[in-house]
Amino acid sequence: MIAVGVLGTMTIDAGELARRLSVSRYPRSSRYDAVWLVENMMGPCSVWLAEALTNVMPLLPGERVMDLGCGKAMSSIFLAREFGVKVEAIDLWIGAEENAARISNAGLSDVVTAVHSDATCLDFPEGHFDAIISIDAYHYFGTEPKLLGSIVPLLKPGGRLGIVVPGLRTEVEAWPDHLAPWWQEGFETFHSPAWWRQLWEHEGLVHVERADIVPRGADDWLTWTATCDDWARAQGRSPYELEAEMLRADRDGLLGFTRLVATRV
Ligand SMILES: C[S@@+](CC[C@H](N)C(=O)[O-])C[C@H]1O[C@@H](n2cnc3c(N)ncnc32)[C@H](O)[C@@H]1O
Repeated sequence: MIAVGVLGTMTIDAGELARRLSVSRYPRSSRYDAVWLVENMMGPCSVWLAEALTNVMPLLPGERVMDLGCGKAMSSIFLAREFGVKVEAIDLWIGAEENAARISNAGLSDVVTAVHSDATCLDFPEGHFDAIISIDAYHYFGTEPKLLGSIVPLLKPGGRLGIVVPGLRTEVEAWPDHLAPWWQEGFETFHSPAWWRQLWEHEGLVHVERADIVPRGADDWLTWTATCDDWARAQGRSPYELEAEMLRADRDGLLGFTRLVATRV
């Protein structure tokens, strides 16, 4: 089916959507069907963020990877397809059957397993995974040190943990006035790379190799959310304009994506 809609006087069809979402910084992601990406999105582009993470946390063919809080499993599909890894795609809000259907449509049922589970009570043997990754999800359940203590043992010694979450360039004492209209419950979980580094290093379970802000991540976030809004409008659905407005109002560049990579010690 060809999806076409009208935005003001501009028609945005699948081709235009693909053009707007083709970002040179994400060459692997740019090969994915843009309508598929947008129709399954649950926030910022999970495949872009998975690419930003794996650029600094390479995965090897055959490795066993947990994708924690995978949402609609697009990042899990990306990891299996791009790196030949085996993925346990774990999520709480999205049922395993729904994700299994998406994984099957991608032809990856033999290497990606959908699991419905809560991150706080995972049932895997110790040392089972070469890597645990989490895209735009870890801040929902991992801002307390307890979570790290429960998932690190699931990694092999030397195994890696990598996350990308919405975050702040630096910690702030209070949410800035010029961003006040967009404050939402949940934003209190947005933190800087330094904050996350301290949380993870405190327990002595992992060595943090990298804690940074994804380069140009905020620009990409705005491109993504504004394009998704235009697509929603073109499809006759309500756009979620507030996020784009907030990103445009962020004149000091406070917001972005915090990225961490750590190794089990
Ligand atoms: C904003 S969505 C992002 C989903 C996906 N990673 C993506 O980027 O599209 C956050 C995800 O975190 C998951 N999540 C939140 N709390 C969780 C928990 N306690 N255990 C497992 N997953 C959880 C939700 O099910 C949801 O799919």
